[in-house]
Order: sequence, then structure tokens, then C-alpha cells
Amino acid sequence: MPTAESVYRQEFPVKGGDFAKAGAVACRIKELLKDLGLDTAIVRRAAIAAYEAEMNVIMYAREGRMDLAVSAQEVHITVDDQGPGIADVELAMTEGFSTATPEMRELGFGAGMGLPNIKRNSDVFYIDSRTGHGTRLKIIIRTNGHGTT
Ligand SMILES: Nc1ncnc2c1ncn2[C@@H]1O[C@H](COP(=O)(O)OP(=O)(O)O)[C@@H](O)[C@H]1O
Ligand SMILES: [Mg+2]
Repeated sequence: MPTAESVYRQEFPVKGGDFAKAGAVACRIKELLKDLGLDTAIVRRAAIAAYEAEMNVIMYAREGRMDLAVSAQEVHITVDDQGPGIADVELAMTEGFSTATPEMRELGFGAGMGLPNIKRNSDVFYIDSRTGHGTRLKIIIRTNGHGTT
């Protein structure tokens, strides 16, 4: 986690079930990274990963927190939630696997591509989950040193 050399850091709460705010945090992260002058390709990857992570908290957890930390070299997005956790992480990471409800599918969610897309858009991706407690994601995207000073 960038600390002393962080140029930017911010925390965002996410509420489980709050579909009215779907994507709001990812949108703010995207704007912040744009304002910091990061490459559009980097901003796009971070925004996709943040959106999928935020939606998973909204869909599956009670509540969560997203932490954005940007250094000259890296964008770190840490996502922590309190919720059911994931019993089989390998299965959850499989393309097309989803436990989304019919109501969520009505809204267009539940393609089972969220976690695979987060991984694809990250340079480093960690997922750690405790059944009955919650899930933690760590997303790292390298900036190539562009943008931030
Ligand atoms: N934060 C989370 N808490 C609990 N379960 C989760 C969480 N994120 C993902 N999952 C589980 O992993 C599955 C796959 O997630 P994902 O790839 O994002 O697809 P989708 O959201 O379309 O179901 C989900 O259907 C759910 O069962
Ligand atoms: Mg998802």
C-alpha cells in the first residue's frame, strides 16, 4: 500500500442492497483518477475494476468500504465488506458463475463476469474471503509513472 509517497487517498462507504447508488463510487474514482491526469487506459481499467467490485458489495454484502490510494507508480483499490463471504473462491472466479437473484438479473446484473473482469483489468489482484464474515479484494494497477507528480 503506498503510504509516504501517496499523492492521493480516499475512502468510500458502500451500502449493501443500495441499487439506487449502483456505480456511484466507481464513477467518483474514475473522475478523481482523470483529474490526477492518469492515462485514459489506466483510468478505464481502474473504473471497470472498481465498478465490478462496488456492484458485488451492493449485490451480495451488507456493507463495505472502498479505499483508493494513488502513488506515482500505482493505483490501489482495496475493497472490504461485511457479508456472507465466498465459500468457493475458485468457482466464484469462473467466467459465467453467478448466484445473482432473478430480481438482480432483471436489472441486468448477474453475468458472472465481474470477478474475472476485475482480475483481467488488474496488474495484481488478491481476493480473500471468510465465509460468514466478508470479503476483501486488493486491486493494483500500475500507472507507468504518467500523470501524477
Ligand atoms: N463481495 C462478495 N460477497 C459475497 N459473494 C460474492 C462477492 N463478490 C462475488 N461474490 C460471489 O461470486 C459470484 C461471482 O461474482 P461476479 O463474477 O462478480 O459475477 P456476478 O456479480 O455477475 O454474479 C457472485 O455471484 C457471488 O456468488
Ligand atoms: Mg459481480
